[in-house]
Amino acid sequence: MEKYDLIARVLSNESIAENVYQITLECVDAALCAKCGQFVNLYLKNESFLLPRPISICWIDGAKLTLVYGVTGKGTKELSAFEFGDQLRMSMPQGNGYDLSMMKEGQTAMLVGGGIGVPPLLELTYLLSQKGIKVITVIGFQNEPFLMKPLLKAGADLYVATDSGKSGFHGTVLDLIEQENLSADAYFACGPKPMLRALTEYVLQQEKDIQISMEERMGCGYGACVGCVCTIRDKSGLEMKKKVCKDGPVFWGSEVVWDAR
Ligand SMILES: Cc1cc2nc3c(=O)[nH]c(=O)nc-3n(C[C@H](O)[C@H](O)[C@H](O)COP(=O)(O)OP(=O)(O)OC[C@H]3O[C@@H](n4cnc5c(N)ncnc54)[C@H](O)[C@@H]3O)c2cc1C
Ligand code: FES
Repeated sequence: MEKYDLIARVLSNESIAENVYQITLECVDAALCAKCGQFVNLYLKNESFLLPRPISICWIDGAKLTLVYGVTGKGTKELSAFEFGDQLRMSMPQGNGYDLSMMKEGQTAMLVGGGIGVPPLLELTYLLSQKGIKVITVIGFQNEPFLMKPLLKAGADLYVATDSGKSGFHGTVLDLIEQENLSADAYFACGPKPMLRALTEYVLQQEKDIQISMEERMGCGYGACVGCVCTIRDKSGLEMKKKVCKDGPVFWGSEVVWDAR
């Protein structure tokens, strides 16, 4: 797929939860070529940060692209200081998004997100709802939930869990799914690896399909450094290394070899 190196203009950049920011960028070309589940590579001003920072696409609205990110290190700290009118260089679209083609009108999809893995589920909730699919969105956080209102607006039948019990169900997303006896025709997920693994094992036991977005640490972010490999087993049982930045970040849960070295 053709990639674009673009300059976007910052329209807003604000905190929506503790250490979590929402940035909206204006960039006509970006919004036209972005696909749900893909990510953008952001280049920072400080030239000592040579590597781009991968951030998932959260929401596409005409020429506006919204990303939600956690401030976890120096790069995302710098990003949180961008203001209205600033210019930001990015390359996109990166990776392959979720495959929605097998979902049919009248079916139910369950979208499961953990922490900073929740943002890509917003665009996904909207697109599936628009296809006439019932969308159950189950989101989990350590303490403070975010993006609840936009998810409801996008069409989610929303369930919230927190580890601390501060808000919503007290426990993990999987506990919540089991307690509420929730089920769907197909599952889509993004979040920390232990959550993805437990959910995938649960869903595969029910003999349903699940697509998961893997967030390996990345180097170059575009397929050159082999810094982001994961192991995949194809239908014939053959194991192979795949690059999360290029071949993913979305994979079928049934393909992922969790304990590979
Ligand atoms: C496909 C993909 C989508 C992502 N989407 C989001 C998102 O929507 N929102 C969000 O908050 N975070 C997301 N992340 C994680 C985000 O990229 C890192 O939090 C961010 O790069 C950290 O940069 P830093 O300079 O603040 O931290 P540092 O730890 O200083 O980063 C140092 C280096 O490690 C890389 N790195 C650090 N943490 C990660 C990580 N978890 N994943 C990949 N690379 C990492 C950085 O890109 C950088 O090259 C995503 C990661 C991937 C791979
Ligand atoms: S990050 Fe360099 S190959 Fe994926």
